[in-house]
Amino acid sequence: MKNLWGGRFGDSMDESAKRLNDSFSFDWRLWRHDIQGSIAYAAALQEAGILTASECAEITQGLVSIEKDALEGDIFDPQSEDVHSAVESLLRERIGPVAGKLHTGRSRNDQVATDTRLYIRESISKVHSLILNLQKTLAVLAEREMETVLPGFTHLQHAQPVLLSHHLLAFFWMLQRDKERFEDCLKRVNVMPLGSAALAGSTVKLNREKLAEQLGFASVSSNSMDAVSDRDYMVEFLSASSLLLVHLSRFAEEIILWNSPEFGYIDLDDSVTTGSSIMPQKKNPDVAELARGKPGRVVGHLMGLLLVLKGLPLAYNKDLQEDKEGLFDTVDTLFVMLPAFDKMLSTAKFSKDRMAKALHGDFSTTTDLADYLVRAGMPFREAHEVIGRLVKHCIDSGRDLESLTPDELAAFSPSLRDAPTGPAGIQESLKARNLTGGTGPDAVKEQLAKALKITRKTT
Ligand code: ARG
Repeated sequence: MKNLWGGRFGDSMDESAKRLNDSFSFDWRLWRHDIQGSIAYAAALQEAGILTASECAEITQGLVSIEKDALEGDIFDPQSEDVHSAVESLLRERIGPVAGKLHTGRSRNDQVATDTRLYIRESISKVHSLILNLQKTLAVLAEREMETVLPGFTHLQHAQPVLLSHHLLAFFWMLQRDKERFEDCLKRVNVMPLGSAALAGSTVKLNREKLAEQLGFASVSSNSMDAVSDRDYMVEFLSASSLLLVHLSRFAEEIILWNSPEFGYIDLDDSVTTGSSIMPQKKNPDVAELARGKPGRVVGHLMGLLLVLKGLPLAYNKDLQEDKEGLFDTVDTLFVMLPAFDKMLSTAKFSKDRMAKALHGDFSTTTDLADYLVRAGMPFREAHEVIGRLVKHCIDSGRDLESLTPDELAAFSPSLRDAPTGPAGIQESLKARNLTGGTGPDAVKEQLAKALKITRKTT
């Protein structure tokens, strides 16, 4: 395969250097975006008087035919230097030397930046809808589990009772912020670098605004040197992806814990678990474990790109070719992870029973007992002390809070005599938290309504 830049070179490229330099083995994935950009660019060249109407039509038809055939099978030369060379040489094969006019006033530097922006834009839209699906699943589960109560944890120790709906919706809001981060990142992605050429700007009098409109870009870049060397939009995309995966990994860790026999809060469906090749009894939560593990590679890609950019002089440098594999792997990871995670959640069975049992004798309503004394006029610090003594007494004597008689309770403070403990105490504890954002049943209903509105609005 002939390179696009052979003219000033004597010897052909050394095999080892070529192997290092070529990017077609991974950037072939940009072929659709490359063709999309070129079709619009050909029209802009015609408008600028570089191509005649018939040359533009020939080039466009050639590109359309390549696109059609490439959808059906491998048609590009695998020896190509990169995807841009692959498309251009195939175009030349098909329509002859007129293909050579397409690259007028353009460089692969502004071309590749345009291609990756188109690719990320498309990926964001897909990731956005996958996140939304997961949010919908969470909202459905939250609606279903409105009555289910479980211990809320701090320090992985029972803290206070919460509604399962509240716990699940916590992840809904993380995902909402993730979605917003992708939307925000899109503003910086959706800027067109085409027309920047190699670094100094194109000599062709392109109507960049019109070209941008044609390609669906919201604006055009303001500085050609920045435009060809900028990968901030990609850093932001990898960063939003990393945080999304970090959120999923936190959720995954809880699912793994909850699915363990020690917790037994959740039973994952057979269809999303795996067995062991040696231990016949095993049913492993691999989807959740992979969700926990995936941030490793994606955060790695983010760090990798930041390090490629660090200290890089203006404008384009070949270092920038290192941006792609991590990007593609990130997109692949999200596209595989999100639907699997969704399936795992929507098919899981939650055990109301185990969650209720976990609250038994766990002292998770003692904050409420202190609040009870506060309502009777005791300063909170004092109430905390009294209830602390009560807890110590129970632990020392091996008693549950709910087994204490009114007299025993009153021995710690007369106002405690009728304080609710056990299931009634749990219900009181929840009801006491009906302020916005709290786990009280009314507050969670309002929260759910907000969440449902979001899932409906964005469809
Ligand atoms: N494969 C290259 C990359 O990904 C395309 C741009 C090449 N530009 C150049 N001046 N050699 O960055």
